[in-house]
Amino acid sequence: MGDPLISRDDAAEALGMVARAAGPYLDALPHLPVRDLTHAHLVKELDGPLPEDGDGTIAAVADLLRIGTRAATHSSGPRFFHFVVGGSTPAAQAGDWITSLLDQASGLWLTSPFATQAETVVLRWLKEMFGLPPSYGGVLTPSATFANLTGLACARHWWAARHGVDVTAEGLVGLPRMPVFSSGYVHASSRKALQLLGLGRDSVRTLTRDDAGRLDLAALDRELAAAGPAVLIANAGEVNGGDFDPVDAMADLAERHGAWLHVDGAFGLFAALSPRTAHLVRGIERADSLAADGHKWLNVPYESGFAFVRDASVLGRAFGSWNAAYLPAPDDEFVNYNNLGPESSRRARALPIWATLRAYGRAGHQAMVERHRDLAHYLGGIVDRSPELELLAPVNLFIVCFRFRPPGVPEEELDDLNRRLGEELIEDGRVYAGTTVYRGVVALRPAIVNWRTTTEDIDLLAAVVKEIGARLVGR
Ligand SMILES: Cc1ncc(COP(=O)(O)O)c(C=O)c1O
Repeated sequence: MGDPLISRDDAAEALGMVARAAGPYLDALPHLPVRDLTHAHLVKELDGPLPEDGDGTIAAVADLLRIGTRAATHSSGPRFFHFVVGGSTPAAQAGDWITSLLDQASGLWLTSPFATQAETVVLRWLKEMFGLPPSYGGVLTPSATFANLTGLACARHWWAARHGVDVTAEGLVGLPRMPVFSSGYVHASSRKALQLLGLGRDSVRTLTRDDAGRLDLAALDRELAAAGPAVLIANAGEVNGGDFDPVDAMADLAERHGAWLHVDGAFGLFAALSPRTAHLVRGIERADSLAADGHKWLNVPYESGFAFVRDASVLGRAFGSWNAAYLPAPDDEFVNYNNLGPESSRRARALPIWATLRAYGRAGHQAMVERHRDLAHYLGGIVDRSPELELLAPVNLFIVCFRFRPPGVPEEELDDLNRRLGEELIEDGRVYAGTTVYRGVVALRPAIVNWRTTTEDIDLLAAVVKEIGARLVGR
């Protein structure tokens, strides 16, 4: 088959094949097991020698659709509760297809004024949704990890400048270690960002007052008084128990001691959308930098994240490359987003965000946030009423942290029992929920963040947990 130029007329048909497969796939999605083991063997068909001439457009796309629609993890369906994995709203998913159709190089205004404008608009909309001042700078990133990297790179730039060094030009040589403080809730991705920035994964000091990892504010106050310019990471929220750091109180301390406050709000920033949950993120509008994900609670397809920075000019200083204009004005229509974040060439990842916000508005996304919170409380209620289940943390957003604890099973056997339960849940595939270690015990911590999820899905989750648990203890 060879050269794609020969089959250029197949381009629309190839997309048509995807579109025609979409209907049956999406209709089936609410009823599919999260992972269908009967099709697991199909992934082997991806393998083979590098094709010499290739099978041609139609055959290759047909194969990928056949294997993918059967063997993929159906995690965009309503019953994937492991980690924090969002779904894709219909508009966001279509926006993502449009991104591929148009294939914009969105790093430079020159290569796509359309994608640049879309990015500027969605960043403004997102700031408004979260209650952040419009003057904040921002950039879209592939993920919250990259958004944390972006915010913490700005923090590093600010901190080095306090020591008289332009870290963008000169690097870290000769500087002391940057003091970084957080609670025990700090996520691995913030550590990864510190690691990539040459600051060291272990440079963050966690100041905790209990085994859950809650912040010791008094200790933070003391440490900051002694540390000189320092960086605080507030976690809004935490993936195991669903708790939040006290962002407002941390902003007070940052102000008092002249520290930089970075908020990792990968999923929790969306609590700002509802008056029922906004108290959890009070103070985010005082942060120096913030990171969040689109592919979690905004329910846009992977890869989607965003970072905001109070002093918009720091983004350009931290990421502007050699010979590039450093300081675009925040309202600069001709902005080159590749100078404001860690990427250079990048896709137009604003489009799915634009589509979902245009389609459902702030109110639609607020409704989703509130429904997920209600569903989490619904599951919390089931756990409370079930003698064989034990709630381990209060439900405050969408995470329900609990374990299987049937009467008569000794405490020392519970970790192993729950670990096996987590493994069997995944093997079973009807629902997906995995285990973590919370306050020293093995626990399940399903997260409800998919727009498709309803009470029936939650009922099934509870029923499957009880069924497998009963089987494991022979009852
Ligand atoms: C609090 C928090 N921060 C950061 C991340 C990293 O997000 P991503 O995997 O999108 O990079 C996660 C992911 O679960 C998270 O829960």
